[in-house]
Amino acid sequence: MTGTATAVDVRGLATPPGPRLPVGLQSLLFARYRHRWLPQLRRRYGDTFSIRIAPYNRHMVVISQPEDIRGVFSGQASVFHAGEGNAILGPVMGEHSVLLLDEAAHLRVRRLLMPAFHGASLPGYQHLIRQLTRDELARWPAGAEFRVHDRTTALTLEIILQVVFGVTDSARLAELRPVVEQVVNISPLTMLGWFYPRLRTKWPWRRFFQIQRDLDRLLYAEIAERRVASDLDTRTDVLSQLLRNSGVSAADGRPGLSDAELRDNLITLLLAGHETTATALAWACHELARNPDVQRAAHRAADANDEEYLEAVAKEAMRLHPVIYEVARRVTEPVAVGGYRVPAGATVLPAIGLVQSDPRAHRTPGRFDPNRFLGEQPAANTWIPFGGGVRRCLGAGFSLLEATVVLGELLRRFELVPLRSVAEPARPRNITLAPGRGATVRLLPRTGRTAGRSGEDRGPVRTAGR
Ligand code: HEM
Repeated sequence: MTGTATAVDVRGLATPPGPRLPVGLQSLLFARYRHRWLPQLRRRYGDTFSIRIAPYNRHMVVISQPEDIRGVFSGQASVFHAGEGNAILGPVMGEHSVLLLDEAAHLRVRRLLMPAFHGASLPGYQHLIRQLTRDELARWPAGAEFRVHDRTTALTLEIILQVVFGVTDSARLAELRPVVEQVVNISPLTMLGWFYPRLRTKWPWRRFFQIQRDLDRLLYAEIAERRVASDLDTRTDVLSQLLRNSGVSAADGRPGLSDAELRDNLITLLLAGHETTATALAWACHELARNPDVQRAAHRAADANDEEYLEAVAKEAMRLHPVIYEVARRVTEPVAVGGYRVPAGATVLPAIGLVQSDPRAHRTPGRFDPNRFLGEQPAANTWIPFGGGVRRCLGAGFSLLEATVVLGELLRRFELVPLRSVAEPARPRNITLAPGRGATVRLLPRTGRTAGRSGEDRGPVRTAGR
């Protein structure tokens, strides 16, 4: 039965086995140690197993066979609800977020967002990404011990803010920056409090609502001004594109995005679009520092503007250190997955982290080897950092472009020296898994080489956008 994810033939099948620990303990293990706990559970129960998670004692079925994952990703959108599976993000992103919607409502918003992140739009962002990267790298302290993750977070926030809003209103950007940072740093515990209304008047939940009100005020002000901006037709930022697309839709008789929908999806893009890439870049720097041979090859690639190799470095970092460990699909009717029955209402979790570390899918999976992504590519559904199917990450191509440009600029200027030989442990940070010590390295300037030659001089970065 492996390889099926179907809504039929479930009679007679058992539900997947799993630990009998109290739901509170399972929730804690999942929230804090999923990257260690889920591999243990796979060793004990096999490729498909059940866990129970708060709130509401939810039944989660973890799957890790590429064929089963394919079945779920290509399953009917009416049966596999990613929006419901992402409900935990509701308090931060809002009910109209593309991440929270399902079926026709999801497709409508996804179609409106897609053109801004489509392959044809990406080259238009490259100059901005490169310029912001150069400004940022000019402040990196050569010779000093340095937490790369802190600064990649600042850089990717700046990039996504300017890509989404444009650069014209620097005063509003200055206001937005710290508020978005605060929203990103809201802990999963605080998010969980949203599901228990009695907690909402108490600290830290009260503070969470205050931050949200500040963010809403800024976003609604920006939307209102942009709706009547005289240069709306010529602006290239995402918000202006969304307003133009929505206008076209309205003229067609189809509804465009309302202010509330715009607000929720702007927050979604800001949050989904910066912490993830920042973390992938931090892991890439961490591994480059620990693997001098790979770093030498990456320096040569940066000097020669070999984007294919730099993109392979980013992809391999995303494989070895999945930024998001699993995605979620809540099933609306009983389905058969991996030879088991998944009851209606349960959530299937295609485990990115399990399949990407599986020796059956990747030879010597613990090794950092970008060559895996040169020439022959990993088999289908064995490299899935961006999820899959109709819910695949909208920013996948954008984030690979961003990572390739940033790595190229960084490696043209610096050598990354590790401080310790041991790898940094992964630590959950909101929905991501980040390097536990912030990817701390020492930066040595690369003088007297080709450092400083502009990648831009030699044409645009091409990303496969897989
Ligand atoms: C390394 C960087 C990134 C990683 C690892 C990542 C990962 C993911 C994953 C795993 C999903 C869920 C897919 C699924 O359920 O199958 C997702 C969805 C999404 N991501 Fe990303 N992402 C990254 C960067 C970005 C960027 C830069 C943006 C926007 C600028 C973005 C916007 C979105 C959106 C809007 C969705 C929801 C898609 C939908 O539900 O239709 N992401 N991402």
